[in-house]
Amino acid sequence: MRTQVAIIGAGPSGLLLGQLLHKAGIDAIIVERQSGDYVLGRIRAGVLEQVTMDLLDEAGVGQRMHAEGLVHGGFDMLFKGERHRIDLNRLTGGKNVMVYGQTEVTHDLMDARQAAGLTTIYEANQVSVHDYDSAKPRVRYEKNGQTHEIECDFIAGCDGFHGVCRASVPKRAITEFEKIYPFGWLGMLSDTPPVHHELIYANSTRGFALCSQRSHTRSRYYLQVPMTDKVENWSDAAFWDELRLRLDPAAREQLVTGPALEKSIAPLRSFVAEPMRFGQMFLAGDAAHIVPPTGAKGLNLAATDVKYLSSAIIEHYQDKSEAGINHYSARCLRRIWRAERFSWWFTSLMHNFPENGPIGQKLQEAELDYIVNSDVGARSVAENYVGLPLNFGE
Ligand code: APR
Ligand code: PHB
Repeated sequence: MRTQVAIIGAGPSGLLLGQLLHKAGIDAIIVERQSGDYVLGRIRAGVLEQVTMDLLDEAGVGQRMHAEGLVHGGFDMLFKGERHRIDLNRLTGGKNVMVYGQTEVTHDLMDARQAAGLTTIYEANQVSVHDYDSAKPRVRYEKNGQTHEIECDFIAGCDGFHGVCRASVPKRAITEFEKIYPFGWLGMLSDTPPVHHELIYANSTRGFALCSQRSHTRSRYYLQVPMTDKVENWSDAAFWDELRLRLDPAAREQLVTGPALEKSIAPLRSFVAEPMRFGQMFLAGDAAHIVPPTGAKGLNLAATDVKYLSSAIIEHYQDKSEAGINHYSARCLRRIWRAERFSWWFTSLMHNFPENGPIGQKLQEAELDYIVNSDVGARSVAENYVGLPLNFGE
């Protein structure tokens, strides 16, 4: 088989890249280890920046997002038992975010790919990448007991944190930066109306909590738990009881409980790999970086990597220019480090760190007091939360 771009991974990064390339008349094949249903079964975050909404529109898959997504112009920060609103819209000169689940984004991208008759090879085993330092890279995989090979011009490593592309790069050619937090997020999805019409990020002495949503009838809640905890230790009732204890009196009163549709614990990690280009192979999305979910940046960063990568590849074929390709890694990394900083800072501010003792809690509360009562403080949170423009710093 031969294609122009072999994309490894059919998560949001790989699917969006495939769609943007297709719109520009560039041929790509996606190779994915799992089945399509498995990919769609993963529950991930759900806040889209304006830049991401624009990219989904550009890819021709924004219709359902506009119809069903919820536009949010602010969120609440809760500490010392009181809620304070961050008015994103006012503080950023009119910007908002869109609450629309990553699962839905993936669904829309998959449907568009299928409708366009584009090739995705699901349940590919033993995927490996070869000769990406040459002009003739190759991807090999096994399916139904047979070995297949794809010849291509470029390989796009959109295969997530545990993927094969980054792992194939010799250690001396890559630098990895990592911080693992000593706690995780226990997430619960339920068909209950959200406790509040906007998100609530809660700092409490019992640990962080987040009240999020997928629609007017579906809620997504998270609790900070020690990494040693197990999801089996949490009955639905125990989850609701603990969430109530981390909320303010009004929210506690309004909380509607019900059975969990899903419960899982996710670790929190900050991770960046540098560079993101190795000859004719590029990394994009979770394959190159992870942010703790507090800042809601994971999917948005993946989308902007993919925009930069698709533009670079389009420039290569249409304008015979290598400028975008040569600039890809530096361009992505500048934006990534800005989002890494914000996500690390917001995580440090909102979570309980027992090792910091009572003074740690007091200092967090003083910083939160500053943020919600200072226009400058609040604006700093707001402008990072809604995200940087695509061409920032250029
Ligand atoms: N071969 C083929 N496919 C692979 C391989 C492999 N060796 N390893 C992993 N994959 C697939 C995974 O099964 C997954 O479907 O690559 C895909 C990677 O998808 P994601 O992990 O979703 O990563 P990405 O597409 O970069 O999405 C960005 O945004 O909200 C965040 O972390 C969240 O997943 C999200 C991310
Ligand atoms: C979610 O809805 O899953 C969500 C929202 C905001 C975050 C993280 C996760 O910061």
